[in-house]
Amino acid sequence: MVEHRSQPGWAKVEDYLSATLVQGGAGMDAVLRSIDNAAMPHIEVAPTAGKLLMLLVRIQGAKRVLEIGTLAGFSTLWLVRGLPDDGHITTCEFLPEHAAVAQANIAAAGFADIVDIRIGAALDTLPALVGGEPYDFVFIDADKGNNVEYLKWALKLGRPGTVVVLDNAIWEGAVLAPGEDPDATAIRAALEFMGSSADLDATAIQTVGTKGWDGFAIADVR
Ligand code: DHB
Ligand code: MG
Repeated sequence: MVEHRSQPGWAKVEDYLSATLVQGGAGMDAVLRSIDNAAMPHIEVAPTAGKLLMLLVRIQGAKRVLEIGTLAGFSTLWLVRGLPDDGHITTCEFLPEHAAVAQANIAAAGFADIVDIRIGAALDTLPALVGGEPYDFVFIDADKGNNVEYLKWALKLGRPGTVVVLDNAIWEGAVLAPGEDPDATAIRAALEFMGSSADLDATAIQTVGTKGWDGFAIADVR
């Protein structure tokens, strides 16, 4: 990702919003510590964004969530918190060592029975989900190069009314001039796919904060 040019004010306001509105609790602090302990990259969603995912799942009334890109399970646990007791999450993680950290975090938070981690490249593990009940909510936050493929999988595994959220839709503005950056090129392709697909009603929102200048794209499956 290009260097952050985030203004300190944004990060300070983000910290204020997290402290005032989010109150993630001990479980979430433990997840953040586990990322440090495992020397994993701190590319998890901001707490304010995690809580937005929780609220979107709840507002949607989703029971079945598909996440592509588990990392340490921080966003997974926010998604879980939006679900009813009989909800379920399938989450795809490429790296076994990251999946192990996530599994421990999810178990420690008491949600091992409703989160199913699929280890390996998502494009290899997603086909096994065909034929199951459709997913109500899909969160995509993995290798950016496959974003368009993941959106196609969201359509395949969703239903009319499924909500799709894509992280990192702005990428410090690089989406406007991707140049040689393959991630920015892929993010732009994903936005163009979302804008032109007859099966999606989409928009995107830019965000600034502790993670710099980025944003979410969100879509409703028709
Ligand atoms: C990166 C990936 C992310 O999903 C994110 O939210 C921020 C940064 C990265 O690969 O640099
Ligand atoms: Mg992300």
